[in-house]
Amino acid sequence: MRPDPVPPAFPTGFRWSAATAAFQIEGARGADGRGRSIWDDFVETPGLVRDGSTAEPGPDSYHRAADDVALLSELGVDRYRFSISWTRVRPGGGAVNPAGLDYYDRLVDALLEAGVTPFPTLYHWDLPAELEAEGGWLNRDTVSGFADYARSVADALGDRVKNWYTINEPVSTSLQGYAIGELAPGRQLLFESLPSVHHQLLAHGTAAGILHDHGAEQVGIVNNHTQVLPAREEDGTAAYLYDVLHNRVFAEPVLLGSYPDLAALGVDLPIRDGDLETIRTPCEFYGVNFYNPTTIRSAPQESPIPFEQVPTPGAAHTGFGALWPIVPGALTEFLVDAKQRYGDALPPVIVGENGASFPEPDHPDGRIDDTDRIAYLDGHIRAVADAIAQGVPVQEYTVWSLLDNFEWAEGFTQRFGLVHVDQVTSARTPKASYGWYRDLIAQVRTGA
Ligand code: NOJ
Repeated sequence: MRPDPVPPAFPTGFRWSAATAAFQIEGARGADGRGRSIWDDFVETPGLVRDGSTAEPGPDSYHRAADDVALLSELGVDRYRFSISWTRVRPGGGAVNPAGLDYYDRLVDALLEAGVTPFPTLYHWDLPAELEAEGGWLNRDTVSGFADYARSVADALGDRVKNWYTINEPVSTSLQGYAIGELAPGRQLLFESLPSVHHQLLAHGTAAGILHDHGAEQVGIVNNHTQVLPAREEDGTAAYLYDVLHNRVFAEPVLLGSYPDLAALGVDLPIRDGDLETIRTPCEFYGVNFYNPTTIRSAPQESPIPFEQVPTPGAAHTGFGALWPIVPGALTEFLVDAKQRYGDALPPVIVGENGASFPEPDHPDGRIDDTDRIAYLDGHIRAVADAIAQGVPVQEYTVWSLLDNFEWAEGFTQRFGLVHVDQVTSARTPKASYGWYRDLIAQVRTGA
């Protein structure tokens, strides 16, 4: 289906962005003293990544950042969301590695020169392997390691970078990384993974204070959220528990300074005096990554987890399969519900990621007419406009992703980019969606 030619209406000053993350685009895992992260261990363990790929070369942005900046400039985005690699900046979580920091220093300068505001994420899943050996996010000491890292980055870049995401999707790290092991560090601790929630949120609040002290103007966490739908009437409790674990556990300490009641899950978090105040450090925005709604039903009695995810009836799905349904209106509903639930405690919202993978050739021969992606993005951008019309203060929308990249355990098998990347030659070829997004931004800005 072709999108409506009339562009959606957005308030003046609404910002447009595109995102990537260090491990997914940089390649060059051994360059300039970079240390190992939990993702190096994960990709080097046979059988964990679907296509056996190791994130190299992929887009190889460590050597091709100038190409990325040129693509961003031509796209006309206000900002670029990229992430900084902890293991380049402080290999092993130890001393600062100036060569690793230099890469980001040059990237920031190049972006500013191109008129694109740098909007980095401090943590997008690449924990130093040495810290994981000490328990990783289950260990409270990781919070102080993260604070040291945040301070080094802010010292080096804070004169030019004023906008920061702290931690990306702690839910994915906790639930997929520590609870069921689909992502690094690949642990299967089920509910015993939950200290990793608290420590990541504490790391967010601690880093927010440090960044503010270094002159940051906009700081926020970016959580992955989903609209939870019970599959049948009798699945209300299962859906409620999923909503608590996936959404509310990550939103409420940050926004309200309290956790939802976890008694039903028999969980106790390692909260110490003052932690909740730190986690609730006032921030200038709340980041929301949104891809799809989630339909939940109760799991069979013998299952260790009380819920399971099922396909959303009647919805088409992305290249990721039946559990990634395409329901743009769910984004409006999620945002409107969040505003109702949290009221004035909800600061301006930034959609930090939204996008979709679809099957595309590895080596395209000519134009990539990714109409499915255009329809997906168009639907979700209109869903954001609808939420704003209903009073939700959304200020920015970000496409995941600028580039096809390394999709974690899926390797190079899922392409999310506005720009196709040949994962062997690293050649970049803008898809039709790239031109479509560029034109949409221009039209919305000029009100044409
Ligand atoms: C969220 C993650 O932040 C990003 O790294 C990932 O590639 C996308 N979702 C798509 O799965």
